[in-house]
Parts: sequence; structure tokens; C-alpha cells
Amino acid sequence: MMLSSTREFWFWWHLMLMQYVLVKFFSHRPVDVHNVYNAVQIKLLMRTTELSVPEYDEVFRDEDNDSDNDNISDNSDDESSRKRKRFDDEAIERRMQRRKWEENRNEVLFKYMQFSTYGTSSALLMFELTWKMSKDSNDLLWLAIIGVTDQYIHYKTPREKYIEDVMALQSHVSRLNHRDDDELISINCLKIMYEDELQLSLYRHWSLFESVCHSINMAAKLKLWTLKGQKRLHEFLAEMGLPLTQCKQKFTAMDTSLKMDIRTKIQQSMNKYGLVDEDIILPSFFAQYGFKNRLCATDVAMVTAAILENWEKSNTPTDSFFKSLDVLTRSNTTVMENGLELAKKQLQAIITQVQTFLDMHQVISAGPFLYAFIQEGAVDVRLFACHQCIMRLARFTLEAHCSVSRNKKSGNLPLVLGVPMNNDKGTILVIGIPPLSMDDDRKNFFGKAFEQAALSTNCRTSHNSFDTFIMEMKSEDRSKFFDALISLLNE
Ligand SMILES: *[C@@H]1O[C@H](CO)[C@@H](O)[C@H](O)[C@H]1NC(C)=O
Ligand SMILES: *[C@@H]1O[C@H](CO)[C@@H](O)[C@H](O)[C@H]1NC(C)=O
Ligand SMILES: *[C@@H]1O[C@H](CO)[C@@H](O)[C@H](O)[C@H]1NC(C)=O
Repeated sequence: MMLSSTREFWFWWHLMLMQYVLVKFFSHRPVDVHNVYNAVQIKLLMRTTELSVPEYDEVFRDEDNDSDNDNISDNSDDESSRKRKRFDDEAIERRMQRRKWEENRNEVLFKYMQFSTYGTSSALLMFELTWKMSKDSNDLLWLAIIGVTDQYIHYKTPREKYIEDVMALQSHVSRLNHRDDDELISINCLKIMYEDELQLSLYRHWSLFESVCHSINMAAKLKLWTLKGQKRLHEFLAEMGLPLTQCKQKFTAMDTSLKMDIRTKIQQSMNKYGLVDEDIILPSFFAQYGFKNRLCATDVAMVTAAILENWEKSNTPTDSFFKSLDVLTRSNTTVMENGLELAKKQLQAIITQVQTFLDMHQVISAGPFLYAFIQEGAVDVRLFACHQCIMRLARFTLEAHCSVSRNKKSGNLPLVLGVPMNNDKGTILVIGIPPLSMDDDRKNFFGKAFEQAALSTNCRTSHNSFDTFIMEMKSEDRSKFFDALISLLNE
């Protein structure tokens, strides 16, 4: 591929490195069997340990012994009728064998395709490739970190897998950042450091109070959707010696003495409020460049996602793409700052919507799963009809519902959520996410379930998302589809 300019080179390079683009092709699992066995045109770049695929013979048949070679000329003498009978028997036998093989193939493929999961972030794989080619750098490592972080904050990988990747990244971080001399801190030279990060959304760019209210783990544990919950939060802050007025200020404007050791303060008081380390602490990284710029990986991943799914009309997808590229390369602080505001707006909209769901008792049990639908004309609907955002909305809704639900079984139920998508076409975007109790592997079975329910009812659905558990459907077909889904999952 000839590239006409440096900009173009970087464009493609980032295109490949950015989780958002490459994940579509590499980190989605399972890999289609046609891609696995087509060794000529398609090369898979992935860890071999992550590839467990049916045997070739189980899913493919060579055309040669495929055809039932049973065309016999019409002869009426004995010899040929005997021959004919033998041929018929053989043909029947072959057909039976074939049917058996096909049944087995369907079963094997169903088992193989039943759950959608995610493998190692493609950004991390690309980074490891650059390392093997001795072309690795801190800038590329930062992109790998963002890719891995994005997988985690969008509930693609379980915590254990995330920690495993962070450990791999950590060894690269110490390798590339071990020089502790001053020359490294020269302007715009990037330094990356490992840190136990507070799992509070964007708190460095918000007020501590707002951040806590918009972080799902905290909000769910403290039940911040209730008056009692708000009271509990006030107590919690007071116990840590943090005055409310200070907490409601911008974090940057808080007294330095209060900000010091804020993590330790939280850790000391949290047990009483039912919070454990995992709710609050996330092993992560931050980047330091220039004299005072400091960015943490989760913030950057969130901002990048918010910019990519910017719903403002004046913004084309290409604009969004280049803006998110600016954020990844830290080349434009204005874009970063605007992105932070966007990300906050997204979180605020999500929390408001979750509150509405709970207040109106709109999360309903259908038996084998919970469901919730946003009504047409609701505020911020356009914002939710995007894949990353609907994913987070669904997860927030499920966690919030389970935190206040009296039904102990809620934690074992998956959630289906629908958002109006296109008014002219009359479509809704539907997502299905696994139950909280399945957080250890985050396997999602809704891809196959949606497909089957749609097939059995002839609903007008469109399954063209890379995430098969997200699909578009005509809103008129909704109840028909849901009846089918319920009976399918009840089996
Ligand atoms: C097809 O033919 C090959 C060899 O030609 C054989 O190994 C294989 O078992 C055959 N497959 C079936 C399903 O008959
Ligand atoms: C069998 O006969 C049909 C019609 O005469 C023909 O189209 C087909 O190709 C034949 N199949 C084989 C395996 O010879
Ligand atoms: C940064 O982005 C803003 C908004 O997109 C743009 O107006 C400005 O020219 C950019 N600055 C640089 C230095 O590229």
C-alpha cells in the first residue's frame, strides 16, 4: 500500500491500533469458521490459545463426495435394474449419511457460535507485534492501554482478563519507562505510570460528588437513587472528613489537604457502606506529558467513546473519527476538553434514564429475562441509540435494578433493553446483556437467541452489528418477537 503522506500513514496506523476499528475484526469471538479455514485470503492475527474451533471435517465437506451421483440411464433389462437397485441403496445410504453429517454440523456450529465473547484487545496484540519488530514506543503502548481499558469499561472482558492484560502491559511500562532522569520529562515526552486508580468516573475533571453519583458501582452499592441513599452518601463523605461544599466544587479547586490520600480515605471508610476494594479500585495507568498534563487511561477511553458516538447534528462520523484520533495522540487539548464535557453529558443522561426506569417501575420481568424500553420522544433518545452507549445504559440499568430489587433472583436474570432508533423507519435498537451473576466470563447468548426468535416469527430485524447481541428491528414487530424470545429462553 502506497501512502501519499505522513498524515495518511498515521491515519492507517491508528486505524489499525484503535480498539474501535480493529476489534471489529479481531477481538470478537468466536471467529467465523470460514475465516479460520480460509488460509489463503484471510490471515488471523490472534493468540493461538484463544482459538478453539471445530474440526474441519465437522463443518466442511469436499464437493467430490458431496454429490449424490445417482443419475442412471433408463435401461430395462435385468442386469441394469439390479445395478439400479444397488445404486439406489447406495444413494439412500449416502443421503442418510449426509443428513447425519448435516445434523451434527448444525449442532457443532450452534455450540461454537452460541456465546459471543471478546478475546485479547487488538490494540494490545498490535503493540506486541511492534515490540517483536523492535518498533515499540511509549506512544504505541499508550494506545494499547486505551484499547484494553476500553474493553473493560464497556463490559467486554471480565475483570480477571483485564488484570491479566494489565500485568502484561505493566511489564512493558516498566521496560519503557525505567529511566528516571530529567531529560525524559522534556516537553511532550510521554511518560506512563502504573497506578491503582479510583473507579470514579472522570473525577479529576468533575466534582467528587458528581463523579460518585455517576459511577455505577458506587451508585448501585449506596442505592443513590433513593433519598436514603443520598443521605448515606452524605454520611460517607462526612466520615471521610470531606465537607459537602468542598465535594461539590470542581475537584481541581478542592483543598489540597483534602485531596491528598483520597484513595486511602475512601478505603478506610468504605467497608461500613458495603463497598469492597473491587468496587473502588482499578489497576490502571496514567500518562504524563509536558509539564503538568496528566491523563488517566479510563478517562481517555471514555472520552474517545463519547466523541466517536457524538450525537450532535453538526458532527459527521468522519469529524468524530479524527477528533477521537486527536484525543488518542493528545494533540489537541480543546478536543480533549470538549470530549470530557460530552462524556459527562452521556453519563448524566444515562443516570437520569436509569432513575426514570426505577421511578416508573419500567424494568419488568418477562420470566427468563428482564426488559426495559425507552418510550419514543423521551429526552436524549438519540444519544442512547449507539452501541457503546446502549451497552453502558443496559449495564447501569441492570445493576441499579438489582441493587433495589426485592427479588433475590434478579442477579441471575439477563436484561433486554430497547431504544427508539430511527423514527422515519420506525425501528428500535435492541440489546441483550448477560446476568450480573455471569460477570466472571461475560458470555453473551443473545446473539443466537435474537437470530432464532426473529427467524421463527419472520420479524423484520437487521442483525448487522458486529456485536450480535445488538440488533435493529421494526418497532411494530416488538411484541411478536418478544413472545418468541420468551418461549425460546423458557425451554
Ligand atoms: C469425503 O472423502 C474423503 C476422501 O476422499 C473422506 O476422507 C471423507 O471421509 C469423505 N467424507 C464423507 C462425509 O463421506
Ligand atoms: C443428474 O441429471 C440431471 C438432469 O439430467 C443433471 O442436471 C445433473 O447434473 C446430473 N447429476 C449428476 C451427478 O450427474
Ligand atoms: C483543535 O480542535 C479545534 C476544534 O476541533 C480546532 O478548532 C482547532 O483548530 C484545533 N487546534 C489544533 C492546534 O489543531
